[in-house]
Amino acid sequence: MTRYQGGKAAIGTELAAHIMKYAEHVLPESRNYLEPFCGMLSVLTNITNPQWKRHAADRHPDLIQMHRAIANGWLPSHDIDLVLFDKHDYDEVKSREHTDKLKAFIGFGTCHSGMYMSSFVRYTKLNTQNSSAQAAEAGIVNNLVPHLCPAFGPSDIEFTCQDYRDWGCAPCTDDEEEQQRHKLQWKDWVIYCDPPYASTNGYNVKGGDTRKTADFDNEEFWTHMREWSGSHLVFISEYTAPDDFVCVWEKDGINKRHLGRKSADKKTQQKGNNRKTEKLFVHKEWHTVFERVKQSREEMKKQSTTPLQTQEPDAMEWSSE
Ligand SMILES: C[S@@+](CC[C@H](N)C(=O)[O-])C[C@H]1O[C@@H](n2cnc3c(N)ncnc32)[C@H](O)[C@@H]1O
Repeated sequence: MTRYQGGKAAIGTELAAHIMKYAEHVLPESRNYLEPFCGMLSVLTNITNPQWKRHAADRHPDLIQMHRAIANGWLPSHDIDLVLFDKHDYDEVKSREHTDKLKAFIGFGTCHSGMYMSSFVRYTKLNTQNSSAQAAEAGIVNNLVPHLCPAFGPSDIEFTCQDYRDWGCAPCTDDEEEQQRHKLQWKDWVIYCDPPYASTNGYNVKGGDTRKTADFDNEEFWTHMREWSGSHLVFISEYTAPDDFVCVWEKDGINKRHLGRKSADKKTQQKGNNRKTEKLFVHKEWHTVFERVKQSREEMKKQSTTPLQTQEPDAMEWSSE
């Protein structure tokens, strides 16, 4: 179950490795890692720093319920016959109210390009009955189960269904101690944001939430990112960013939707329109810290490898400490 609109399945491992390495340089004391737009967890499941408590959040209620259910040992085949699943069943699941884990599985896992409840897909392979529902469950078993439901002990991932703007809001209480505790806890987190990109399709939540993600306000998003970057190390995936954010990683990608189409595709390829560069941004203040740490580490390394006879007196003093 890796198809997900805007999902990072193809680059999740690389992104996670870069985030962990960068954070180790500038915020080694961090103990919390948050993804407020967790989607299908393609990055979070590759985050392996044992010092970090992992928090996964998304405002999609069905999705979060599905992740929680898988963490507790649930699989879609416990509730439906994956081989016989047909258009009639699809329509029934689609008409269900939120919150429904099966709706998330069908809506994301078995629809075109992982776009929520976009259309019923059923395919069969020669001589076997292989429905898209079966393939999606195989994806869950391979990609999510080992992380959400590990063989040894429970997973540490904490799931929350909420809008990203609600993170860090002070608790509704006059108790000063409680507020102070909250302030201390909501500090020095490593946060990775993978929001709906500007000028791309919105996310269809259908019903359970009146603020549709199609209305995602990208300008407001960057204001929040700026504010959060004052107390946290925040990484953001996007194609472009405001001037006070710096690109710290990038990779050329191919828009897979165009692959496999012939005539129309050739034109698009010639124009180069189907290549998008995925980028990762951090606020420039954090990048200044990163550069400083990097430089001082390089200097220390140089000094520790310089032969004794060529060292300046100062450097010799340092190395004998
Ligand atoms: C690009 S996808 C994340 C993909 C994820 N990184 C992955 O690899 O599977 C963006 C996610 O943001 C969620 N989302 C959209 N608007 C949101 C909001 N205001 N607050 C929290 N989540 C939101 C969507 O439900 C969607 O799951």
